[in-house]
Amino acid sequence: MDIKRLKINGIVEPLGFHFDDIIVSWTVENSTGTHSHSECILVALDSEFKNIIFESEQGLLDSSGVSIPITLAPRTRYYVKVLVEDDMGDKAEKITFFETGKRDEDWQGQWITTSQDDEFHPLFSKSFISEKTVKKARLYICGLGLYEAYLGAEKIGNEYLTPNLNDYQSALQVQTYDVTHLIKRENTFSVLLGNGWYKGKYGDENSVPYGAQFGLVAELHIKSTDGEVCVITTDQSWTYIPSNVEQSGIYFGESYNRILWENHDNMPKSAQLMTMSVPLIDRYSLPVVVKETLAVKELIVSPKGETILDFGQNFTGWVEWDNCLPKGTRVQLEFGEILQDGNFYNDNYRTAESVFIYTSNGEKERVRPHFTFFGFRYVKVTGWVGTLDTSMFRGSVVYSDLERTGFIQTGHEKINRLYQNSLWGMKSNFLDLPTDCPQRDERLGWTGDAQVFSKTASYHMDTRAFYHKYLWDMRLEQQKRHGGVPAFIPVPPNSNLAFETAIWGDAATFIPNTLKEFYGVSQYSEIYYKQMKDWVDFVARRLEDVKGTKVALWDFSFQFGDWLALDGPNEQSFKGDTPDDYLATMYFCRSLEIVALFGEALGKAESKTYRSYYEELRQFLLDTYFTPVGHLSSGTQSSYIVALNFNIYRNRAVLIDDFTKLLQKHQNSIKCGFVGAPLICQTLAECGRHDLAYQLLFKETYPSWLYAVNLGATTIWERWNSVLPDGHMSGTGMNSLNHYSYGNVVEFLYRYAAGLAPKEAGFKTVKISPKLNGKLKFCDCQFDSAYGRYRVKWEILENRQVTYDLQIPFNCQAEVELEGCEEVMVLETGNYHFQFETKSDYTQRYHEDSTLGEIFENSAATEIFKKIVPVYELMADNGAMRINQLRELVMLGLSQETEKELLRELKHFKY
Ligand code: BGC
Repeated sequence: MDIKRLKINGIVEPLGFHFDDIIVSWTVENSTGTHSHSECILVALDSEFKNIIFESEQGLLDSSGVSIPITLAPRTRYYVKVLVEDDMGDKAEKITFFETGKRDEDWQGQWITTSQDDEFHPLFSKSFISEKTVKKARLYICGLGLYEAYLGAEKIGNEYLTPNLNDYQSALQVQTYDVTHLIKRENTFSVLLGNGWYKGKYGDENSVPYGAQFGLVAELHIKSTDGEVCVITTDQSWTYIPSNVEQSGIYFGESYNRILWENHDNMPKSAQLMTMSVPLIDRYSLPVVVKETLAVKELIVSPKGETILDFGQNFTGWVEWDNCLPKGTRVQLEFGEILQDGNFYNDNYRTAESVFIYTSNGEKERVRPHFTFFGFRYVKVTGWVGTLDTSMFRGSVVYSDLERTGFIQTGHEKINRLYQNSLWGMKSNFLDLPTDCPQRDERLGWTGDAQVFSKTASYHMDTRAFYHKYLWDMRLEQQKRHGGVPAFIPVPPNSNLAFETAIWGDAATFIPNTLKEFYGVSQYSEIYYKQMKDWVDFVARRLEDVKGTKVALWDFSFQFGDWLALDGPNEQSFKGDTPDDYLATMYFCRSLEIVALFGEALGKAESKTYRSYYEELRQFLLDTYFTPVGHLSSGTQSSYIVALNFNIYRNRAVLIDDFTKLLQKHQNSIKCGFVGAPLICQTLAECGRHDLAYQLLFKETYPSWLYAVNLGATTIWERWNSVLPDGHMSGTGMNSLNHYSYGNVVEFLYRYAAGLAPKEAGFKTVKISPKLNGKLKFCDCQFDSAYGRYRVKWEILENRQVTYDLQIPFNCQAEVELEGCEEVMVLETGNYHFQFETKSDYTQRYHEDSTLGEIFENSAATEIFKKIVPVYELMADNGAMRINQLRELVMLGLSQETEKELLRELKHFKY
């Protein structure tokens, strides 16, 4: 038996985090038995567990998160041991640790800065001697706007863009580093500072920087083997010189000039003390690291003669290389997501310059920017001297250090690409906070985007610690706004965009609800509950103020509504046709229900009040928007999706019928935006119409997910028509190719195609009910839940045979409904293989969903097509038509009869 994924607060061996509470979680693998017989947690101050300070009572624990009631001391390492024995007597134990930062301890280090006249980026330093043998050394540090710290030539830690992003007016995050291995006898401790989010341009047009001055505070605690402690602190004895960072900015990029100060006399200047009233706190942010690297896929010389590196994948991070350029060479890198007519393009980045300029001093070094990041696939290189060997470049993919938990592979290449696009959307936009996009002059923590993507995100990766940080950011904003949740978080000073709206603000209830669904109820739920309540109380107060009653429509103040939907006045409109008041009040009603449910789970007395408010408002919505038989007055795709998802309807069957009729009227074409599209396939599947969900998923004509895949998308686009069929961008105003919102469709693959859905919070019990599909052929899904790894794999074979391979983790149970099997099975921990005969023949190759392209790939099918469809030549010659499905032929002028005849004749083809 092995204990795996032992984490504290969702993090492996956390160092210096802000521990609101200590929550231990783990999973068990390779057990002999199926469930725990006994579990125990010990916490000690030493790795030998001689000095034990906590021992859980003997019995059963909840491995998705056990709260440890201990009082924490600052700068202390705690060792945690988990022991498990299963029902067969098999045993395992595992040790991990966490270490506190400075907590509430006073700072000996003082804030230092440069003289006001010095406008350059500084490099602060201090030299010291360490005579004794070092037992343990820790650095506690914060630098503004951003910092990179070094001991000698070595960069401290593997993280970047520290101290990360949060509301710098409320708190400043401190990072803790274990530097034991870096202390020598003679040391130079230096810190490079850049502008970042704090000191540079960030936010909307009106926003102003958080601060104007560079700042640094640090304490380096060195403990010798004889027990003596020496603390090196920031103070006036530090000096600074101008650094080689010529310019830096999140939107600008960076200019790193190795000869900038060559002919200057750079006498070190004394650091000056500065006053900083914002409190320092232990970090919430996960480290931002290089999670993976990409090689250049192709070197392109464009029609304009530009030299362009193509990484083959849109992503977030930067480019690195080993310098071999002669002294004085000034190389400029520009970043873009797409080529236009084969040439470099990034007009959609708007005012974000996104450049990296490097000036060489002729010496060998690893080159990379320090205080910025880019969202890109293509890099235009100018000024290179000598041959440009693509193998020397490395694309560093940079995002928060999250563990990947979800993996899906199917038998359909384009669906696999769509899955990857959703995953890359997450990788690109989970850099410290959930952003809308990583490339243009925005990169903001938009709450609506975060809300709609949170479920897919939590299938893809372990999001506990990441969202915990974002929800803390949200709490800080809520404290300033009487519970109100702005449209993006954090809100930079002077921003004029961050007002409270529905759907966006409902992130306050929806994200904690996702965390509860994926990771169970923990001590953190108490913290989240308070902020969820604050949000609904805020909206209730506004309703009362404006409408005189809490049971009313939210029909005042600006709403984003069904953002970027296609049923608005025209396809470039910002929002669709679903009434704002309907969406806002429906979302508010759902938020009330979530608060009631959460409160009930936590045993809160006031839950009753929230439940009855919810029920009253729900009835009011039914009376306002639904006819007595249950039809909706607002018949848009998103209005049906929301009602069905939130269970706000009079008659489910009537609503499903109306919704599917509307889809038929729309020729099965997506009309919805940020509200409806992320949920449309899941909603249809939940209503028993997974056939329609699959149709939408496989659709290749505009607007659809595969339309983008066909046009070469490697991430999810902001708009359905971000790129036009001829490859041109549809506009530059608001057009990113790396927005994850619509990528939430992948939840359909996890939850319905693979069919893995939680029954009990944290996936302790699940329902496995895959929805087979012949076009998909197979679906192999693995998911590392809070309790351990689930696997659902199905594969369609010949002769109506289907195989299933299932894996249920330790301590878990699955209710399993498999096509071909008459009974509903209840399976315990273990691996299972089944083979059944299905009623439908899933091997039939051509359906109404099949595209002309798929038919033309097969010569016998093409012959039949030719025989039946008189205008075959015309269609075969028209490349654009290859993505049309058979069902769409009627739209193209063929008769229903011809379509039927075709389907009859093509029915005999098998995969
Ligand atoms: C962002 C969105 C965001 C929206 C607000 C845009 O500029 O990129 O994703 O949610 O504004 O409606």
